[in-house]
Amino acid sequence: MITADQTSTFPRFLDLSYPSVERGEGVRLWTADGAELLDACSGGAMVSNLGHGLRDVVDAGVLQAEKIAYFYMDHFTNEPMERLAERLIEVAAPEMARVRFTSSGSEANETALRLARAYHVDRGEPDRWQMVSPAQAYHGSTMATLALSGRPRSLQHPYEPYLSPHLHVHIGTDPEAALRELDARLEEAGPGAVAAFFCEPVSGAARPAFTPPESFWRGLDARRERHGFLVCFDEVVTGMGRTGSWFAYQQLPIEPDIVTVGKGLGAGYAPISAVLCKQHVYDAVDRGSRFFDLGHTWDGAPVSCATGLSVLDALESRGLVARVRERGPRLLEQLQAALRGNGLVREVRGRGFLLGIELVDLPDEAHMDDRVEEVALRHGLLISTTHSNLDGFVGDEVVFAPAFTATDDELDMMVERLAARCAPTPSRTRSGMARS
Ligand SMILES: Cc1ncc(COP(=O)(O)O)c(C=O)c1O
Repeated sequence: MITADQTSTFPRFLDLSYPSVERGEGVRLWTADGAELLDACSGGAMVSNLGHGLRDVVDAGVLQAEKIAYFYMDHFTNEPMERLAERLIEVAAPEMARVRFTSSGSEANETALRLARAYHVDRGEPDRWQMVSPAQAYHGSTMATLALSGRPRSLQHPYEPYLSPHLHVHIGTDPEAALRELDARLEEAGPGAVAAFFCEPVSGAARPAFTPPESFWRGLDARRERHGFLVCFDEVVTGMGRTGSWFAYQQLPIEPDIVTVGKGLGAGYAPISAVLCKQHVYDAVDRGSRFFDLGHTWDGAPVSCATGLSVLDALESRGLVARVRERGPRLLEQLQAALRGNGLVREVRGRGFLLGIELVDLPDEAHMDDRVEEVALRHGLLISTTHSNLDGFVGDEVVFAPAFTATDDELDMMVERLAARCAPTPSRTRSGMARS
């Protein structure tokens, strides 16, 4: 365990002690002090969808690094980047036309936001800048993406002076109420002011596996048509198969104009993310400024793209998206059955291998998120939690999102351990796992 006064790093939480992770194989992890854990959250952040230590993917990165690891995309294109863009559209997102690579989810969402703005400016509507997004959301840690959430206490304070005043809606299970709120926000913004509706089609960490009823999406589609804004989907968590289809929007009655993908694209073997857009978005820039300048140093680097290609190959050749689609409903049933009657749990939701446990609403000071996470870790299970209570959303959330490669026995063991340990303890010491 390493505490803040024993390290030269600047830890995220200064009053925590952090175990050091040393090795991973599949869904098993070993720490330097000898603990063995089951990873039920794919590297803690829904990233390691192929499990840890996958030789083929490691080799793909090594081979590319030996040829050329890095070059800035201003000067050259490169074969892995070209092939990954082509294969992503062909295999995972045939509805999309173009791909721009970035390195993190925040960068991808920031790029999506800029692309939405560039689209309107290039079409001669420069007044469109405002975003409307759900309040209970997480879209990244940069200032632009932080402004896309309505979470002043848990995420935005004390950086409010840097955040654009975007508009937020509260989306519950009543689609009509959510659409009425959306209409109110559109009216508040005024005609021709909204650039995009920005959201996750199926929520990741902020509200695991939650998606509004279908009529909300149909209503959103109709409003896009009527008001001329774009729909941007953040699929940083859900993209690349997490919910049982390559992209979660493929299960909904709406397609986005712009979609981002992150974590699962590199699956923890390289930091790579991407923004994909439809043809008409590309056309606007093509006929307008002919310029979409947003260059992060690592965008489209050969070593990251070669790794991403290998991840895509592994998902495809092993039929892992189909496995998630087929095995997901039973995993949800197992988790629901195991937690039935647990006084801490309000709801267990799931789509594919993205499962969420919403805890009952307890006083903020109870920090149920920390306590559940801490107890699970002490008993050999790594899960992740979100402290939603702090911003007035009911119930903290637990994320259960195993690698797609987890065997049936491993999934059974994870469910068993979680159900046995999903109970509070008097301790308020955080386990020390980084979270979004
Ligand atoms: C839905 C969603 N969007 C964006 C991000 C930001 O991604 P990154 O941490 O890679 O910048 C996250 C990270 O957890 C996320 O869950």
